[in-house]
This record gives sequence, structure tokens and C-alpha cells, in this order.
Amino acid sequence: PRAFNIVVLPGDGVGPEVALAAQRVLTCIGDIYGHRFDFAEHLIGGAAIDAVGESLPEDTKAACLAADAVLLGAVGGPKWDGAPVRPEQGLLAIRKAMGLYANLRPLQVSPVLAHRSPLKKEIVEGVDLIVFRELTSGVYFGERTRSKTQASDLCVYTVEEIERVARAAFQAAEQRRGKVTSVDKANVMETSRLWREVVTRIHAEEYPQITLEHALVDSMAMHLIRKPREYDVILTENMFGDILSDEISVLGGSIGLLPSASLGADGPGLFEPIHGSAPDIAGQDLANPVGMVLSAAMMLRHSFKLEDEADSIEAAVAAVLASGAVTADLGGELGTVAATRAIVDAIRAIHWAAARHVP
Ligand code: NAD
Ligand code: IPM
Ligand code: MN
Repeated sequence: PRAFNIVVLPGDGVGPEVALAAQRVLTCIGDIYGHRFDFAEHLIGGAAIDAVGESLPEDTKAACLAADAVLLGAVGGPKWDGAPVRPEQGLLAIRKAMGLYANLRPLQVSPVLAHRSPLKKEIVEGVDLIVFRELTSGVYFGERTRSKTQASDLCVYTVEEIERVARAAFQAAEQRRGKVTSVDKANVMETSRLWREVVTRIHAEEYPQITLEHALVDSMAMHLIRKPREYDVILTENMFGDILSDEISVLGGSIGLLPSASLGADGPGLFEPIHGSAPDIAGQDLANPVGMVLSAAMMLRHSFKLEDEADSIEAAVAAVLASGAVTADLGGELGTVAATRAIVDAIRAIHWAAARHVP
């Protein structure tokens, strides 16, 4: 039995609804496996702006840095569109403060779920890929300027920033199908030319057994829809990774299904669904909790090394989705609360079925 301190940052919109779902699922896992998960909620994003006037309060930052791991719902919404401080700034700031340079966004489309995608079943069934998105640099963090007549966003990458995320992607490929597709815009951007050079060198020097291919981001956006099964690990810079991962979510049927893990060299990781605060459905019990719940599973695996516990969450989610007990984004009728309960029930069912086989 072990105890873990988890900081929960519910945030805005559907963030609190899905964050609660993850806590319910983790509490169930704790009961079954005898772990203690202590949750401490802190403010971030618009909720923090409303309460204390800043998007990442100092005590939130300190709590995250001291935690075993951080779970985050989502931030942002139309309410803060004209505000002097933006909710999203808090998210960027916590990623930077925690040194979370690698954002992992996996997607698997099992044959029983392929019909949920608006794309043809033959195209999406069997998709199994993971995006490694660089998360603490690039145009997200370059200098911004604004005058009456012009604005600029500077995109900077250093060799070291590219090397470390490239290594993370190659290491993941070693455990998977051994292929990395590095995505850039090297035909136009200098940062992309550096990106391609560095990735090519790290590959040759350290991971020659991995198959590496380079792709330009525009045609990659097309290939991902035409032949998504060809991809294993997709390695890319911050903004391209942001955009391509939302595109990829369509392969699985809904953006509400995709989890992510944001990891640094050491220290706690941060785990959040890839979707945003979904203001159009917030507060109506309509949000799909699966992306957030699978993020909690990634936390168990990556931060706590609790493989069996992570497996049981993933198996329960797969069973529930296969049974057709899904939320409205996937054409179903369940609300957030009921979908979460279905996952919790499935975890218990899987666990007791397995326990009966113990001699
Ligand atoms: P969004 O991801 O919030 O929503 C896009 C669409 O997907 C909406 O129609 C929404 O209803 C749907 N959707 C999203 N999550 C869902 C879920 N769990 N279940 C069912 N449907 C879901 O993107 P947006 O509308 O472009 O952005 C809204 C706000 O969220 C913006 O302020 C943006 O900055 C912010 N945002 C935050 C994060 C984050 O906190 N990590 C990520 C993306 C966007
Ligand atoms: C995401 C979001 C964020 C990003 C925003 C809200 C800053 O879109 O986590 O994918 O662009 O990284
Ligand atoms: Mn995004």
C-alpha cells in the first residue's frame, strides 16, 4: 500500500466535471489495490483569475512542484476573452515551471470502436499511434510584440530542446513498432531546418535501429486522415503537435477520448485530456470523461509505476466503450456522471472476475 499526493487543477468549463470523474475512478482503484490517493485542489485559469486576479497563483505553482503528480481538467472560455490576463497563460506557465517538455498524446482505435469515427471504418480500425509534442518552447514561448499596426510571435528552438524531446520519442519507439515520423515545415522555417538536422543526428548517433522519416506538416495533416495506421510515433514541435493531435482525435470518434501526459526530466508529471474547456457543453453533464480518466491511468503508469492499476482503468474504459455505454459526443445517451459510474463499475467487475481465478 502506498500514499500519493495528487494536486488537482479543475480549471474552467467542463474541467471540474471531468476532474471529478478522474478522482472517482482513482478512489475506486485506491480501494481495490489498497493505495491512498490524497487530492488537493488548487486554482488555475479563469477560476483563478476570478478568485485572485492571476491565472497561476503562487500557491498553486508551489503545490504542483511539491506534488507526486498533477491532474488538470481544462482552462479558458469566452468569459475571459477580453481580459488583461488570459486563463491559458496559467497553463503555459505551469508547464514551463514544471519543465514538462514532452507531451505524450496516444490514440488507439480498436475494431469495436472504429464505427464511432466519422471516417471510414477501414481507415481507422487498428490505428495505434502516439504524438510526442514538444511542450515548453517554440512559438508558444517566444517574445510577443504588438503595436497599433503590427504584431509578432517569435519562434525559437535550441538544439538541446530538440534533442531531449527527440530522445523521448525514440525511446518510446523502441518499446513500440520502431518507427518515428518527425513533422516539421523545413521547406519554410529555420527552426524546422534545425529540428530536422538535430533529429537526424540523434537518430544516427543514438537510435540507428529505429526507422526515422521526416514529413512536412501540411501533407502530414492529409496523410493522417488517409492512412493513419502507418504511423507509430509522431514527433513534432509545440504548435504543430497541438493542431495535429486535435485532428487525430477524429480518428477515434471524439476529442473527448484522448488523454495526455506531460513529462519532464524528473519531478512530477502533469496529466490532462487534450480537449479544452468545451464552453458549449459546460455545466450540463455532457462532457465525455474518458480523456481525463485515461489521463489518470497515464499518471498511474508514468509517475507511480502502477502498471496493473493503469491497465485496469484502460480495460474498464475499453469495455464500457465497447458496450455502447457512451456520452453524446459519441452518439450515446449517458451523461458525465453516469459514464463515470459505468467505468467505476467496470473496474470492480474486472477486478472481481480476476480475483475469482486466484487459486
Ligand atoms: P474544446 O476542446 O474546448 O472544444 C472543441 C469541441 O469539442 C467543442 O464542440 C466541445 O464541446 C467538444 N468537446 C471538447 N471536450 C469534450 C468532451 N470531454 N466531451 C465532449 N465534447 C467535448 O476547444 P475550443 O472550443 O476551441 O476551446 C474552448 C476553450 O478551451 C478555449 O478557451 C481554449 O483556449 C481552451 N482550451 C484549453 C485546453 C486545456 O486546458 N488544455 C485545451 C484546448 C483548449
Ligand atoms: C492544449 C491547448 C493549449 C495548448 C492551450 C489552451 C494553451 O490547446 O493543451 O492542447 O495550445 O497547448
Ligand atoms: Mn490544443
